[in-house]
Amino acid sequence: MLEQLKLIKQNAINEVETCNDIKELIELRVKYLGKKGPIQEAMKSMKDLDIEERKALGLVSNEVKDAISVAIDAKQGSLEALEVEKKLQSEFIDVSLPARGQNHGHTHLLNQVVEEIEDLFIGMGYDIAEGPEVEYDHYNFEMLNLPKGHPARDMQDSFYITEELLLRTHTSPVQARTMLKHEGKGPVKIICPGKVYRRDDDDATHSHQFMQIEGLVIGENITMSDLKGTLDVFAKKLFGENREIRFRPSFFPFTEPSVEVDVTCAKCKGEGCPMCKDSGYIEILGAGMVHPNVLKMAGFDHNKYQGFAFGIGAERIAILKYGIDDIRQFYTNDMRFNKQFSK
Ligand code: PHE
Repeated sequence: MLEQLKLIKQNAINEVETCNDIKELIELRVKYLGKKGPIQEAMKSMKDLDIEERKALGLVSNEVKDAISVAIDAKQGSLEALEVEKKLQSEFIDVSLPARGQNHGHTHLLNQVVEEIEDLFIGMGYDIAEGPEVEYDHYNFEMLNLPKGHPARDMQDSFYITEELLLRTHTSPVQARTMLKHEGKGPVKIICPGKVYRRDDDDATHSHQFMQIEGLVIGENITMSDLKGTLDVFAKKLFGENREIRFRPSFFPFTEPSVEVDVTCAKCKGEGCPMCKDSGYIEILGAGMVHPNVLKMAGFDHNKYQGFAFGIGAERIAILKYGIDDIRQFYTNDMRFNKQFSK
């Protein structure tokens, strides 16, 4: 009997040792230590033995059970440790690998320039006014001193939708609408950014659609020197403190007098070079004092109020500021171009 128990122990420990699977190990525990196991089986014959033999057998069977249980526990411990190790290996993250990187969008260069100009004028106390891109002839032309048949309408070749509706050729109609809202009372101090449309053949310097920022100031005792001072600040803030502006006489139907405004050439600083065609200056915008007819039509007393207006082409400013050689770059969305101007 004792021999039989030793054999059971030996077999059990051998099986436990060669077992490599937790599930199998649990089965082994049931197999050897469970109620129907070989030890329990062997003990059944105990009832035929005398008391001393029973004691001895009881002792040995307990020893055998303990030994098997210890072996199983030890094996379970090492198998579980192995399992954890395997899991760690399979879930290993190499934090030293280079990251994949992300593509971030950014504001388009043209909008960056528009926002810069807006900020500048907001800083000088201007409000931003906006209006429709599909506009009435009335606001786009007539209220700006351009009655039907006026030859100066040809300056802005237009896309008409009906006889009365067109794609606005400038943002001046927003100024007309804003003036009407003021019902003859000053002051008015606005800039009007937005898309405008003209019938042009697209090339390096022309685009049938472009971005304008027009400004309008109406108040009492407004003079041409207010206009000049304002545009001087604008040019210096945008292009650099060492830049100068100059006024050249010009013509716009809605301003009188009218001027073209030039800024000293960045390349030659006014000396004259091929970039500025030896003039030392580069044209940046058109401006003037609001024509009395325009004030009258918008309900302002032109004896009490005066005003100035200016029209900035955003592309032109961006072209000069960033040395861009083709206006179409703003609209063809070539990412090689766009990405150069991520802020
Ligand atoms: N509206 C003019 C244009 O688009 C620009 C401008 C505005 C000129 C205000 C003078 C004064 O051509």
